[in-house]
Amino acid sequence: MRENYVLHKLHSLSGIIPVGFYMAQHLLLNSFSLAGPSKFNGVIGFFSNMPQHVLLLLELVAIWIPLAFHAVYGLFIVARNGDNYSKSAYKYRENRYYRWQRWSGVLAFFFLCFHVTSTTGFAKARGHLVIEYDAWHSLLTHNGYVFFAIYALGMAACSYHLAYGIWNFCIRWGITISEASQEAMAKVSAVAFVLLTVLGVGALYGFINPVFQQQEAPVEARSSSSLAPASNAYDSSAIRFR
Ligand code: HEM
Ligand code: HEM
Repeated sequence: MRENYVLHKLHSLSGIIPVGFYMAQHLLLNSFSLAGPSKFNGVIGFFSNMPQHVLLLLELVAIWIPLAFHAVYGLFIVARNGDNYSKSAYKYRENRYYRWQRWSGVLAFFFLCFHVTSTTGFAKARGHLVIEYDAWHSLLTHNGYVFFAIYALGMAACSYHLAYGIWNFCIRWGITISEASQEAMAKVSAVAFVLLTVLGVGALYGFINPVFQQQEAPVEARSSSSLAPASNAYDSSAIRFR
């Protein structure tokens, strides 16, 4: 089966808008964990208190449809194992970026399958929902920090994929044509990779920071009931990771 030019362009664009943008803001909001349980749960509460139809529409249009398309078409590109820059005059380093970017996409796929089945309705059905601060703490400190390591690796793979995706994107869309501009963009990608990874590791550390374990985690999603009916609040019995 041949690749389709328009689908490939759409795949490339969806990696930046909206999926890349979603990931950057998602890591930033998750880093509220560094400010403690009540700040983090406040962010979760903000979204859970939104009218359900608005939340559903936002999730479908800004996350699920583009992410599903990007993931499925991305796996198709990897399976097809098409051309990369090795046939051109690009240096070995560029080939490596390109290859790793594809493999980090595969890692991102497995990580996200695991991640979204712990944080969405799939998890709620199984009683393993991991959304609020105390559930993250239980999950990440569970089994000798093995889930902390899985999260750190998965998140780093996603960060690499996005950061070097920007580099590939700029070449594909003719934004960086000269070798000097590609060289400069490689530096921007390296900085983006470090920043995203630090943000993600920081978010994870916020959940295991011993300073917060002495305090009980107030759950604003539940306490801010003046903003929403009780039925909108998370079912606290389903929140703790078991
Ligand atoms: C869910 C699993 C994912 C898979 C299987 C996947 C796969 C891929 C593949 C194979 C490419 C290279 C396309 C090519 O060679 O032409 C790619 C590009 C890209 N991906 Fe993903 N990806 C995934 C998730 C993500 C996520 C979560 C983001 C953003 C955070 C993202 C952002 C990008 C960007 C920005 C590009 C560069 C676009 C370009 O080459 O022009 N991807 N993806
Ligand atoms: C530090 C690592 C991460 C933490 C602590 C984390 C945390 C969370 C939480 C609390 C939720 C449920 C609430 C919400 O929708 O915001 C969630 C859902 C989700 N996360 Fe993450 N996340 C992490 C990394 C990532 C990465 C790297 C991606 C890649 C794009 C990602 C993609 C998603 C998606 C697609 C959902 C489902 C969204 C929805 O249904 O609304 N997460 N994550």
